[in-house]
Amino acid sequence: FDARVARIASTIRVIPDFPKPEAFRETIDIFVERYKAKGITVVAGVEARGFIFGPTIALALGAKFVPLRKPKKLPGEVISEEYSLEYGTDKIKMHVGAVEPDDRAVVVDDLIATGGTLCAAVKLIERAGAEVVECACVIELSELKGRDKLGNKPVFVLVKADEAG
Ligand code: PRP
Ligand code: MG
Repeated sequence: FDARVARIASTIRVIPDFPKPEAFRETIDIFVERYKAKGITVVAGVEARGFIFGPTIALALGAKFVPLRKPKKLPGEVISEEYSLEYGTDKIKMHVGAVEPDDRAVVVDDLIATGGTLCAAVKLIERAGAEVVECACVIELSELKGRDKLGNKPVFVLVKADEAG
């Protein structure tokens, strides 16, 4: 036993459930309620932060989770879409066969900023012949007008924030 460790421990305040224990569950619940009667067969999540929400929503809906990944991650045959970033471009990829033409998909991500990422995600799924029913994000940086890039594809968001937050 080391008295120093006891002193260190005594200085640490334990604040249960900090910051918000219910936020994740409530986020998932809202998405699941919205899509449960819409015949969704695929929830596609964009690497990396779309992976936080997508699989849990897919499980609750009884849908497949399809990962849309950054380059050099998927080992099989892929299709690819490029999108622009603040500096340069990036790509996301999807396995051929991950989505089938009769699938009905929701694309999930944490945040829509310029809309480039979601736009590329929608294109990948539509190239596979499936329908993207809606895109769903937790946060929208509305000043960046990313929604406009999605055309008439609906984007459902929980929280709208301007760039100043
Ligand atoms: C962030 C965020 C969205 C994207 C939104 O991902 O998670 O996926 O940017 O930006 P856009 O609407 O302008 O395309 P990022 O690629 O920065 O990294 P991540 O791997 O942490 O998700
Ligand atoms: Mg991301």
